[in-house]
Amino acid sequence: MKIRAVRGMNDILPEEARSWHRVEASFRGVAELFGFGEVRTPIIEDTALFSKQIGETSDVVEKEMYSFRRHDNELTVRPEGTAGAARAYVEHAMWGKESVSRWYYIGAMFRGERPAKGRYRQFHQAGCELYGDAGPVADAEMIELCVRVLASLSITDIKVHLNSLGSGSAHDGEANVGTRARYKAALLDYLQPRSLELSEDSQRRLEKNPLRILDSKDPRDQAIAAGAPSILDVLSSEDSEHFDGVQRSLTALGIPFVVDPRLVRGLDYYTRTLFEIKAEGADLGSQSTVCGGGRYDNMVESLGGPKTPAIGFAMGLERLLIAHRAATTATNDTSFKPVVYIASLKPEAGDPAAGLDVALSLARELRDRGVRCDIDSRDAKLKAMLRRADASKARLCVIVGDEEIATNQLTVKDLANKAQEKLPRAEAAQWIAARLATPPGSSAEEAK
Ligand code: HAM
Repeated sequence: MKIRAVRGMNDILPEEARSWHRVEASFRGVAELFGFGEVRTPIIEDTALFSKQIGETSDVVEKEMYSFRRHDNELTVRPEGTAGAARAYVEHAMWGKESVSRWYYIGAMFRGERPAKGRYRQFHQAGCELYGDAGPVADAEMIELCVRVLASLSITDIKVHLNSLGSGSAHDGEANVGTRARYKAALLDYLQPRSLELSEDSQRRLEKNPLRILDSKDPRDQAIAAGAPSILDVLSSEDSEHFDGVQRSLTALGIPFVVDPRLVRGLDYYTRTLFEIKAEGADLGSQSTVCGGGRYDNMVESLGGPKTPAIGFAMGLERLLIAHRAATTATNDTSFKPVVYIASLKPEAGDPAAGLDVALSLARELRDRGVRCDIDSRDAKLKAMLRRADASKARLCVIVGDEEIATNQLTVKDLANKAQEKLPRAEAAQWIAARLATPPGSSAEEAK
């Protein structure tokens, strides 16, 4: 049986990789504009890091992690970047080196979700994490950063969804007397009488983490969640003040948003601000969330560091690419393909490698001048080689045949207008480089 790529995991072939480079470069450019520096953390971490931070009752931890045991360690291929970055932040005691750290990352993440357009098992995220700034302006600036990345990719048909989960976190349990505990109590009051109408997953999660039910994809849960009390009604005055500050800063930045009190997101570590950005025009269906993030003010401390506020987000690169293509009708980029196609014909008589020697030395001279070229030395007739040259989308085809070898010349054919020239071998590389500096389709005379 043929071995194929694992379901939900995709090859990115060279023509497509060019679009990836463009998206990644846009992201890096904007992240660096906001003072973020790149961090690269391992793809594999201790399973406990994710189960503790993302939350035992989250879908990611319960159902989707690629976990395995090796050398007596329980390990997991990262499903996201935030926990690993915070682990590194603590491991390197970054708070002792700088009061605020701004990190970004780009890389592959792994979740065993059901594959669909825009949802994969290996996918890629570009994300930012900011440690050490508790103020609401930081939250708004993170959203501004995302909006700028999207705009740089012409993704402007977007909607920013905003909510606050208040302080405390889902892990804090009964010890937490903040907003979260009050909301949990209100939610339980609402959900318990309806528990039998909930999905099996939600019935199981009811006591431990009722917030998860608001994020459920099951239609039975969604119908009940629609009538649930709003967390915004129980925010503490500090949490409210923070949330007002975020909204005020967004307005000052000219970024429209909608407050969505049902937004909880699928990861348990969030505190206070939460946001998601949806690309409306990209035909992504339920996968239209191109970006998600929020504050997680307890994570650094729960990993053994000092209490350190933090906020971050991640964008799904596959979804960005789909939205970018929908917004720009961008096609695959072939600009890395050769512009000169050297057709090296097998000599009818004499030294069988004579043509190849010429082709190789010409290719070397062209590459020295920065000209991308390919040699075709497969045993074929001129007609077949010219067909392949056309298909390669090169601009010029250099023919090295018996006559060219005998006269120490080369034939150069313009593949657009089919004009053909004979050139002395010694001048060929320079002539070709000059010719390529003129716009395609211009007459051969101009290059001289
Ligand atoms: P997340 O919402 O799980 O958040 O993922 C962020 C983004 O990654 C999503 O909005 C989506 O664009 C993309 N994404 C997630 N899962 C998939 C998938 N299976 N296939 C394709 N794309 C996907 C996080 O991961 C948090 N770490 C974000 C964060 C950073 N929060 C604070 N800092």
